[in-house]
Amino acid sequence: MERREEKNIEKASHLKHEKLSNITGSGSGILNDVDSFYTFPENNNEIEYCSGTACFVSRFRDPSLFGLAEKSEKKTYCLGKCYLGPASSNKNGEPNIEVKSSAAIVLENIVNGPLRDIKDYSNTGGFLALKNAIAMNREEVVGTIKDSMLRGRGGAGFPTGVKWESVLTQSSDRKYVVVNADEGDAGAYIDKVIMEYDPFKLLEGTVIAGYASGSSTGYIYIRREYPEAVSTILGAIQSMNENGFLGRNILGSDFSFDLHVVVGKGSYVCGEETAMLRAIEGRRPEVSVRPPYPTENGLFNMPTVIDNVETLANVPWILTKGADKFKDLGFSKSRGTKAVSLNSLFKRPGLYEIDPGMSLEDLIFEIGGGLKEGNVSGVIIGGPLAGIVTPDKFSTKLGYEEMHAIGASLGHGGVIAFDEHTSMHELIENVSTFVAFESCGKCTPCRVGSRVIRDAFSARTNKSLSYDDYTDIVSTLKEASLCGLGTGLGDFLSSANTNFNREVRSCFA
Ligand SMILES: Cc1cc2nc3c(=O)[nH]c(=O)nc-3n(C[C@H](O)[C@H](O)[C@H](O)COP(=O)(O)O)c2cc1C
Ligand code: SF4
Repeated sequence: MERREEKNIEKASHLKHEKLSNITGSGSGILNDVDSFYTFPENNNEIEYCSGTACFVSRFRDPSLFGLAEKSEKKTYCLGKCYLGPASSNKNGEPNIEVKSSAAIVLENIVNGPLRDIKDYSNTGGFLALKNAIAMNREEVVGTIKDSMLRGRGGAGFPTGVKWESVLTQSSDRKYVVVNADEGDAGAYIDKVIMEYDPFKLLEGTVIAGYASGSSTGYIYIRREYPEAVSTILGAIQSMNENGFLGRNILGSDFSFDLHVVVGKGSYVCGEETAMLRAIEGRRPEVSVRPPYPTENGLFNMPTVIDNVETLANVPWILTKGADKFKDLGFSKSRGTKAVSLNSLFKRPGLYEIDPGMSLEDLIFEIGGGLKEGNVSGVIIGGPLAGIVTPDKFSTKLGYEEMHAIGASLGHGGVIAFDEHTSMHELIENVSTFVAFESCGKCTPCRVGSRVIRDAFSARTNKSLSYDDYTDIVSTLKEASLCGLGTGLGDFLSSANTNFNREVRSCFA
């Protein structure tokens, strides 16, 4: 693309997104071919009812409220209130938040706070990490994050320092940081709480990422379902600009960094990094084939760091306490701490910071207190697009590799327990309906496969598909989908086939 054209796209996007940022959660009549992709191209100001899996499995707690979600033509998948499920946008209540780890890293200010005022944040050690970072050269900052063994908290667990290094070593006069605050996985509300209760920690981590990677501009892409997070982050950005922590010559150095907010329009797939880049550019947000990776060819075709909110919230602690202190926490290849969020069926739903290496059993029964009623049939960790963990595997320790070894995922850390109120038939119907609704349509296995499975499981007596046809579709989803939406549906269905085979087969009688 010609440089001038690129600049024009960037300028148009900036103008558009400035407008978006000022009118929380609303669009402004952008091109129809782009808007037609989205469920909510315009802000509708109507009450929304959550259809996400965490609310679905708790529907028996308030059938009439969940009935409104079922009736909604435009589906809202996850309002980040899974601790209240079934949830609606006008149902309010604070989650229980506790630190259960050996050190409080991401939730420290939140359990003692909230910390929404820049002076309060500075007075409790805020911005010391940024000062430390700017006193180091970029390579040293990247080296510190690499040494800490911090891995991405958004799902894939990629080493954060390696990503930053990859952008730093690209020769380009423009580089970007993108913060992934789309948090679409049902069951997860970690990023929401960080943004609403401790916004400066995220922003400090983001500015450090900008410095370390040699970037001059950052974008925070926040889901529209989190209007309080949008307004808190916008206010915090303004305070940082006014106090010399953002903008030109930060803290008197020669480092300058600008930060913009982009609000989503109700598309789950925009959490996938290549779709998110297109969304920020104001293009139709279909998933792109990788390579090239965003670290080489990202936003506006420039090298780009894309990091999750919780990932960046770890960075200030590492830059003040040191990489070794961070690496000493956790176990195996999962170092530091991890925030996990429990859904409303638990006796003690809420957000907890834990040490990786804790068993699922301890998380479910000691921290969560087990279920309010009934028995746990299984848990889904890291959103519905992952394997189900059944009680016989609850002794597994929480860690990236350890969860993969049992066909599950640590993912983003949302934990959805379900019980005998939800049959496997119903769960598959909910998850495949979600994927069919959110599929970007770029690849056939996901676009067609999700619909065929949804239709088969929505029909109470399935006649259209044999069990063999169904398992073929599951394998194709896993092997041939372009991104984690399709492969994740395949993983979820495989796990259902393995763990609940009799029930799944009975749907094909
Ligand atoms: C369909 C799909 C949805 C995703 N949604 C999110 C999301 O909401 N938040 C997030 O941080 N990562 C999400 N990811 C992962 C991102 O693509 C990317 O790996 C992540 O933002 C990188 O940040 P990290 O290294 O800090 O985890 C999603 C991936 C896929 C395939
Ligand atoms: S797997 Fe689904 S969401 Fe991902 S690229 Fe293919 S169609 Fe799009």
